[in-house]
Order: sequence, then C-alpha cells, then structure tokens
Amino acid sequence: MTISMRRAIVAAMVLVGGGTAAIVAAPTVAQQAPDQPWRDARRDPDTRAAALLAAMTQDEKLSLVRTHFPNKMKDRPADVPLSAGYHPGIARLGIPAQRLTDASLGVAANQRPPDAVTALPSGLAIAATWDPAMARAGGALVAREARRMGFNILLGGGVNLVRDPRGGRSFEYLGEDALLAGTLAGNAIAGTQSEHVLSTVKHYVLNAQETGRSVVDARIALPALRASDLLAFQKAIEIGHPGSVMCSYNRINGPWACEDPVTMGILKNDWHYPGYVMSDWGGVHSTVRAANAGLDQESGWEIAPVAYFGTELATAVANGTVSQARIDDMVRRILRSMFAAGLFDRPVSRSPVDVAAGARIAQAIAADSIVLLKNRAGVLPLSPSIRSIVVIGRQADFGVLSGGGSSQVMPIGSRRIDPPAAAPAWGRGTIYHPNAPLAAIRRLAPNARIRWIDGRDPAAAAAAAKRADVAILFAHQWASEAMDAALTLPDDQDATIAAVAAANPRTVVVLENNAAVLMPWARSVAGVVVAWYSGSRGGDAIADMLFGRTDAAGRLPVSFPRSVDQLPIPDLPGARRAAAERELPEADQPAFSATYVEGADTGYRWLARTAKEPLFPFGFGLSYTRFAYGDLRADAQGARFSVANRGARAGTDTPQVYIAGPGQTLRLAGWARLSLSPGRTEAVAVRFDPRTFATFDEARRQWVVAPGDYRVVVGRHVGDTALSTVVTMPRRVYPVDWIAPADQFARR
Ligand code: BGC
Repeated sequence: MTISMRRAIVAAMVLVGGGTAAIVAAPTVAQQAPDQPWRDARRDPDTRAAALLAAMTQDEKLSLVRTHFPNKMKDRPADVPLSAGYHPGIARLGIPAQRLTDASLGVAANQRPPDAVTALPSGLAIAATWDPAMARAGGALVAREARRMGFNILLGGGVNLVRDPRGGRSFEYLGEDALLAGTLAGNAIAGTQSEHVLSTVKHYVLNAQETGRSVVDARIALPALRASDLLAFQKAIEIGHPGSVMCSYNRINGPWACEDPVTMGILKNDWHYPGYVMSDWGGVHSTVRAANAGLDQESGWEIAPVAYFGTELATAVANGTVSQARIDDMVRRILRSMFAAGLFDRPVSRSPVDVAAGARIAQAIAADSIVLLKNRAGVLPLSPSIRSIVVIGRQADFGVLSGGGSSQVMPIGSRRIDPPAAAPAWGRGTIYHPNAPLAAIRRLAPNARIRWIDGRDPAAAAAAAKRADVAILFAHQWASEAMDAALTLPDDQDATIAAVAAANPRTVVVLENNAAVLMPWARSVAGVVVAWYSGSRGGDAIADMLFGRTDAAGRLPVSFPRSVDQLPIPDLPGARRAAAERELPEADQPAFSATYVEGADTGYRWLARTAKEPLFPFGFGLSYTRFAYGDLRADAQGARFSVANRGARAGTDTPQVYIAGPGQTLRLAGWARLSLSPGRTEAVAVRFDPRTFATFDEARRQWVVAPGDYRVVVGRHVGDTALSTVVTMPRRVYPVDWIAPADQFARR
C-alpha cells in the first residue's frame, strides 16, 4: 500500500468512527413521556440514571444485576442469538435489552454457525501496529458490525499484560508494556463506544495465564501491580471510558478477583470509575463478599451453581448483609453506562454487515502489523519477476490461522481442522479464515512457477524447496483461551524448517503465531516474518508485504526470548500438577499460586534487570527503507526529535522513546508512528506520562518521581540507542487519581 493509500484508509476509518460520534442525539421522547425524564437525551447520564433508579421497584433493580447466558437459557426468545449474554430490558421503563457478545477481534461466533462478519487481526497484531488510529478503527468496525447483528454490549478491551508469552490468550491482548497496551486498548474502546455500543475493558486483573485460571492465586506487591497491569487498565479507562470493567477468574493476593475489595477499591475509589463491574462468566463465588467488594453484575448466571446475584442477593438485602445503598449503586452504575454509551437513544437494528468494508480495514491493520525480524541479503521484498517459488505450510493454500476461545470469529467459509487434544471442549477447534496466502502470492507473481506443499513431510518439503528460487514457509502456533501454549513450535516444525533451510538458503519463515516462539533455526533461514493471526484479509496482507507492496511496518509488542529460562517464571505455575488434579472440573481443583517475581518489570524490563539478551527485543522490526533520527531535545515533560527517511522507498516507522531514572532500566515513555516518502524529514514530539517512571507510595497513596538524572533514549527498539540525552528531574508527586492530559501521545 502506498503512503497515500494508507493515509486515505486511516482518514476514512477515523471519519467513520469519529464522524458518527458527532451526530446530534436522536430526538427525545421526553415530550411523549413527561413522567419519564430519563428518556431525555439532552440530560447527562448521571441525572438520567438517578431519575430512572428512583422509578424502579426492588424486583426490577434486582433483575438488572445479572445477565443470562443464552446458551443455557430456558425459553430463549427467538430474537436472542447464541452469544455471551442477554438481559430482556424493562419495557415499562423503556430500559432496552442488553445484548452482549464477545468482540475482542470481531463479533465472535460463540456456538453460532459462521456469520457474514469481519475477523480482525489478533490483539497482538493490532499492538504491533503501535498505532492508536488503527486500534480505534478496529474497535469502531467491530461495533458497527455488532449493531447490525443486534448486539449493544461488546466484551472487548482485553488489556492484560503479557507477562508470559506462553499465556494462551496473549494473542487477544496488547503486549507486555503498560503504556503501549493501555493506550491501544483505550483507543479500541473509544472506537467501539463512538458507535453507540457499550464496551468492557477486561480481565481485571492479572489473568496472566490460562493454566488453572479459576484457581490460580496471582501474587504480587501492590505498588508493582499499580505500576504495571493496573496502569494498563487505568490508561485504557482514561482514554476509552469503557462502560464496564470485567473482573477476571483468578485470585489476586488471596481473594478471587470478582470479590477483591483491594483492586475494586482502586478502580472505584482511587480512579473514581463511574461504570459497572461485570463478572467473567462463572467468575462469581459468593454473594455478600462479591457485592460488598464492588461487583455490580453477575454475567451468565445460569453457569453458576448458586443463584449468587439472584435469590441469594435478595436474601442478603433483606437480612442487611448487603445494603440497599449498595444495590442502588449497582443499578445506577449499570444504567449510567447504558445512557453514556447511547443504548437508550440509539437502539440497534439488524441489517446486513458490509463485509467488503470490514475486509478493507482488517487488511489495513494486518498490513501495518506484520513484523520483519530478519532479511539476510535482501531476500525480501520478492521481485514480481521471480521465476519460481515454493510455498510450504498447512492450509497456506486455503487461508490464515486464528486463535481460539470465546474471541473466535467465524466469517463464512472458515474451516475447522482438528484441534490438539488439550483444546477446551467448548471451543471451536483450530479455525482458518478463507484468504489464501498462496493465491495472493500467485496474483503478485503471475509468471512464476509456484508450487504448494503442506510441509508435513520434512524431506518432501526440502526436496521441493531445493528447486525453487525462494521457499516461503508458513509456520503455525495455534493458541486458545483456557490453555497455555508452548514456546516451541508444535508438530516438529523446527525440524521441517531446518530441513528446508538446509536445502534452500533463500528460505523465509512466516509465523502465524500467538506470541513469542523459539527459533532454533533463526541463523539458518534468510528471512523471518511475524504475521500473527492476521484476520479476514491476512493472506493478501502477507503477500503484499512479501512483495514490498507495503512496507514491513510492524514492531514487536512482546520480547522474543532465546529460551524458556529467560522468562521470569520458567516453570509455568500449575503446569506440573498431577494429571488427576488438572483434569478435575476447574472449580474443584486445589488452589495454587503464581508469584510474579518480576513485579512491575514485565517483558523487556525483566530481561534488562536480569541482563539477558533476547532473540529479538521489544519494539524491534525491520523496514524496507532506512530511517535516521536526529535533533533530540528533552526535558521533564517530554522529548522532541526528527525522523528522516534516508532510503529509496516510502516506508512506515515507529521511533520509540525510552527513559530510565536512577536505578531503573529503560521503560517505554512514548513513540511516534509515521509514514514518510524517501528524502522526507518530520519533527516528532512525545510527552511523558510520569507514571511510567514513577513509583507508587502506598502509605501516602501517591506517585513519586524520584529526583535525579534520567536517561532519555530514542531508538528503533528497546536495545537501540540511536540518540540519547540526560534530563534532570526534580522530585514530583502526583495524586492517586492523577490522569494524563489527553494530548500526551506523539504529535507532529
Ligand atoms: C472469557 C471472557 C468472555 C466470556 C464470555 C469467558 O470465558 O474469559 O473473556 O468475555 O467468557 O464469553
């Protein structure tokens, strides 16, 4: 894609998202219903929620604090599809139905047949764009499609930090850095809600692994949690204002997340969050503890063994163990978010989804997300006049891999192949989306001899590779919610890659992956491309990048370690439990703990702290052109510098600013994302968020920036010091509810 094409797509996307947000509210119905002042769209959400709450009966209030799980619902109404959640609304008061669907990467299918719908690239792919506009466009797209499919609450906004790349949901999340993840999640949420759909942010908090996710006790010191996962949530909330926060399955320093007074207190008291907390599905374990800690709505109540927020809650209110004020607070929060997102004023109505429009956005995101890690002797980009290519890899003749679990999107034509035995029974198996890299490669090299082989037999793959000008090998790493992934590629693919690389020095590996993988063959192949799970138009996007029709524009949002030993907890907590224990229903498994020894030093910060050099560092990614940085000036507020395209082609770059205070290793402090024609130079300004280099003082409940000399570095990744300077910072303190000014991110 040329720079002007890319700019046009982003501009169109922003217009679609932002444009609709600017539409004046629908005509009010207050005139027809003067006794229902909450219907007046000119009033603010708090006033409307208070007025509506005052008109509700106790039964009506109690009905709102839990939602159905349609898959298990008795007498499911005909207009309620299989999906994550449903509440019928209250017609007497004009309260609309709540129709919930999973939506991290598109409108998820749950148990439904395939839909006319767009599958976005994975969360990590979106993070690899480092582009808030792309995240926003993706969020808005999902919301538009969801509305047309009849949904008004989206379970998106996954922002758990990737503390361990083996985490089976790493692909749903936005990487290992709180600033990057929180910024992108906030923008995705803002995009969703600009389309008058309510979004969650999830899973609050520390759902860092899938192994034993309902029984694991995630242990970490509170100041470290504030400066890492909580900071990611805080940023996502201050940028995106999600209507709801979904509490997670795990325990946090003892209590289950959905009944943890500490993290819910931080959310509601420290950050003044005005929305509601909904549980993850089956994540409620009590009535009184959960209600009093701050849980506002039980999701999918049919899953629970006990009517926690049903009859049990009614009893608790009657006997005073849960106060009426707390019930009113729950209901007010739910209603406030429904008003704020536009659920009352902009009812959803079904209409066909514009999949062609969706595909364009999915492809633009995929194009910007693909990371080029290695390019020996300029093996890429391929020339359109290349004579022969062998394409190797499972399903490369059909489509691109996607991740499994509740986020699974199923565009029409998607194909299921058998999942590994460990896959969750309720999942959809291993799904490929129909957009074949092979066909796209054929289109771009119409005169080449192109052969495809599935790669199951290493000897046959090597023999085929030997005769070709270049071998493009698609490697797969499927991951899913409810299971963790190994860092080593499955199905003995390392042996296949080694055999092919030995047969053809011009071998390029294209990874379709959850997160980081080990690459014992990294030295022997000519090219390594990280394509992630690339969505509805992944095949086209990959081929465009291989042939240089787009720049290699992605940058790693996670470190790629050299070995499992480089991870903070090499022995995945709970993985070695006896089979008899692991195979019990999760609720019956004994608890175990995961102690996050890295504290706030997730990902690259842990590697720096332990002086370990990864295989590929956080932020890394090659471009097809060359960028040069200069003119660095920095002060306590931020940094300015220039970026020049010194190569012969147009390209997209993500210069990154890192900062380290006394005794600290470098932390991401900001970045810019810019597309430049050859010879062009642009000035960039990045404003710091002091929370990225402050520490949190629990006793005084404030962020403290230590005085001293801070190193400020501008580089292509965390290991690069293209430019550096020193800034002397005075001691500064910021209150617990301090939020960053809206214009904090890179401006040009
Ligand atoms: C997942 C959530 C999801 C919910 C509803 C849970 O298993 O953890 O992310 O939103 O199911 O499908």
